[in-house]
Amino acid sequence: MNLSRKTALLTGATGGIGNAIAKALADEGVSLILTARNGDKLTALESQLDGTGHLIHSCDLTKAEDRKVLQRVCAERGIDLLINNAGINHLALLEKMSDSELAVMIETNLTVPMLLCRDFLPLLVDRPESAIVNIGSILGSIGYAGSVTYCATKFGLRGFSEALRRELADRSVQVVYFSPRATATSFNSSKMVAMNEALGTAVDSAEWVAEEFINTLKQKNPHNRYLGWPEKFFVRLNGLLPKLVDKALFKQLPIIRRFAE
Ligand SMILES: NC(=O)c1ccc[n+]([C@@H]2O[C@H](COP(=O)([O-])OP(=O)(O)OC[C@H]3O[C@@H](n4cnc5c(N)ncnc54)[C@H](OP(=O)(O)O)[C@@H]3O)[C@@H](O)[C@H]2O)c1
Repeated sequence: MNLSRKTALLTGATGGIGNAIAKALADEGVSLILTARNGDKLTALESQLDGTGHLIHSCDLTKAEDRKVLQRVCAERGIDLLINNAGINHLALLEKMSDSELAVMIETNLTVPMLLCRDFLPLLVDRPESAIVNIGSILGSIGYAGSVTYCATKFGLRGFSEALRRELADRSVQVVYFSPRATATSFNSSKMVAMNEALGTAVDSAEWVAEEFINTLKQKNPHNRYLGWPEKFFVRLNGLLPKLVDKALFKQLPIIRRFAE
């Protein structure tokens, strides 16, 4: 798609990946509506962006009232892109997760993007060329110990994106599921960083992820995108021969347990 002079709503704009995506989109001439809960961080981000006409809007996306106000703001401006990027994770074994930790993760990572897609769709279908981009994860295709609930939310988001793409196949709205692998942001707690080091997990920079994000959006018919080698190979292998992947990941389990417990 042609990004120039488009308007995008970006959630989770102040996070590591959101920040890099915001800067990369602004460089492409996209006007941004940036959201997160922390207003000071939004102000700081806005001051670093190229271009004019950006808008910051602080809100908690898990609150229905906040989403309604955001919808009004976006309706006034009009949007061509909805980028569902806000997300949370928490390295822990399932048995150690409280009811509220489970519920908040499902709400933030899955329910909120679904609600935003539903509520903002009327704004997007009016535009000649528009897209929904749901930021998933490689862990939305490969179940991983220590991130069981997170995996469930991202598997859900991937399935939702696929179904919605097919439901909107006769409209002008593209639906893209974009999935990074581990990325160096504060999303990953110190425990997660130490675990990734112990496992030898490759970690990308947020700037590289943002570059690939832009490359994906610029394609004529952007589709699902999985970042990183060998992760994208494992995504396919897991679909075809999950027992092989069970075996490979079993070797990592003692290390994962050490950090997750
Ligand atoms: N980093 C990785 O290793 C990695 C790997 C694969 C996929 N991803 C995915 O990439 C996306 C961005 O990750 P990141 O690394 O940039 O995370 P991050 O640095 O932790 O940023 C998360 C963003 O979401 C916002 N947010 C969280 N809860 C919110 C809520 N209830 N309402 C509104 N905003 C909320 C945060 O801002 P406030 O706290 O101010 O609200 C922040 O802007 C996520 O969907 C994540 O699952 C990340």
